[in-house]
Amino acid sequence: MSETKKKVALRSAEWFGTQDKNGFMYRSWMKNQGIPDHEFQGKPIIGICNTWSELTPCNAHFRKLAEHVKRGILEAGGFPVEFPVFSSGESNLRPTAMLTRNLAAMDVEESIRGNPMDAVVLLVGCDKTTPALLMGAASCDIPAIVVSGGPMLNGKLNGKSIGSGTAVWQLHEQVKGGEISMHDFLAAEAGHSRSAGTCNTMGTASTMACMAEALGTTLPHNAAIPAVDARRYVLAHMSGMRIVDMVWEDLRLSKILTKEAFENAIRVNAAIGGSTNAVIHLKAIAGRIGVPLELEDWTRVGKGTPTVVDLLPSGRFLMEEFYYAGGLPGVIRRLGESDLVMHKNALTVNGKSLWDNCKDAPIYDDEVIRPLTKPLLDDGGICILRGNLAPRGAVLKPSAATPELMQHRGKAVVFENFEHYKERIMDPDLDVDKDSVLVMKNCGPKGYPGMAEVGNMGLPPKLLAQGVKDMVRISDARMSGTAYGTVVLHVAPEAMAGGPLGIVRDGDYVELDCANGKLNLDISDAEMAQRLAARAEEHVEGAKSGYQQLYINHVLQADEGCDFDFLVGMRGSKVPKHSH
Ligand code: FES
Repeated sequence: MSETKKKVALRSAEWFGTQDKNGFMYRSWMKNQGIPDHEFQGKPIIGICNTWSELTPCNAHFRKLAEHVKRGILEAGGFPVEFPVFSSGESNLRPTAMLTRNLAAMDVEESIRGNPMDAVVLLVGCDKTTPALLMGAASCDIPAIVVSGGPMLNGKLNGKSIGSGTAVWQLHEQVKGGEISMHDFLAAEAGHSRSAGTCNTMGTASTMACMAEALGTTLPHNAAIPAVDARRYVLAHMSGMRIVDMVWEDLRLSKILTKEAFENAIRVNAAIGGSTNAVIHLKAIAGRIGVPLELEDWTRVGKGTPTVVDLLPSGRFLMEEFYYAGGLPGVIRRLGESDLVMHKNALTVNGKSLWDNCKDAPIYDDEVIRPLTKPLLDDGGICILRGNLAPRGAVLKPSAATPELMQHRGKAVVFENFEHYKERIMDPDLDVDKDSVLVMKNCGPKGYPGMAEVGNMGLPPKLLAQGVKDMVRISDARMSGTAYGTVVLHVAPEAMAGGPLGIVRDGDYVELDCANGKLNLDISDAEMAQRLAARAEEHVEGAKSGYQQLYINHVLQADEGCDFDFLVGMRGSKVPKHSH
């Protein structure tokens, strides 16, 4: 390693490597933390980008996680420096954490580029923190390794396992349908989230942890080790050790985040029954590193991949069981043995290929990681839809949908926005039946700034009482990865950006055809043109200043990853000039 060492000029030397006024100033202020002089003499400086926050409960254990990363960095001869970045927590942040994903990514990028660091460890957990930190680091393109916080232990209620988020949707529908009491509903709260960690279903946090591992940005098994399992802390330690070598090997993100890596991740998303949010986040990360990724890649690569991971919300088990069954390396091995991982040579952060890491991975439980011959679903690829209702695309998650509803024609019941939906859905006289299609507008990136996860509209109480379990729902919103149903999401362009979704009326017929990737409004082209021309311009209330205004003015549509237009691309890690 010493020979390689000599070839790599440390970026941090631009701060600490000179015996002059500038070197004095950079070192001297750091020394107020009790750092001895020899620490500044040629050791790689490793940033630990921490999304710890007590307001992001899923990441609240990250101080301890960071300590273990530090131990690894110190053991390998590096100099750890921990720094905070904006923590986008899913459960508390209003109106939606997605509104701040780009804010966090901007924070990460500028924190890395402007500071003395040669590499960075990204501590991620709750949904948006994973894409945000990868986006920011990708724009800088320095060596980076992801360490996830890990999922919570299985939730428990009355002796049975319950899954994060998914249990909430189910219990809420049971309360509305009169199957359980409000007392029982509230009693479920404590057992639902009973340990540190992220949602234990295959929701967006688990999906993005799997995506980070499939992309090659983590050590093997990062996605599934429970947050409270000692092996999570061992992985943090090993990641700290590894990142120091990555500096000497100049193993930057651009060598790992290749088109091949994204295609592997798309296939893995189908195999795990992953969240639709991955479509948006992978596009945004790819955009930062300069990899072209289109919605059609999800069809080309993902279509035909069976869902083999039997986890809620699509299946039966939870992340804890997934880890015990073999975790993501087991899934990749299963796919690879039938040539379903197309790019076996894709490089990962440990310097080995994805396939080298996974080819001998054991699988301990065929119920949780099912054989390809007995999948949960034959084709788990995210379904990409286009048509006159979604000229720039929409998505549907087949593993969460009702197969019979994936080919459906029904009369639209239209809600102008989320508030209108909440008010109207309770109306006992609402003209709706089980074949209706619920259509909600103005919940896209600009319309509900941040594109809230409200697309899985709860069903009308009067139909729930009749035992109806699912209906076709369409919107420009997103859906929580923990949710389920025949739900068409991310309709682009969104209603607020002039998309045809905005001109749907009650009683219009809508046609969903997943097999052929179609989503159409059954009106003539002339009628469509006339309605679009007649539509009044709409504005988002209360967003005339501040961050929300910046967001609305610059956010890209769902098919483009909802990044800000001015943040797309890699700007590198060139050291900025001195200010003194
Ligand atoms: Fe944080 Fe689900 S709310 S991971």
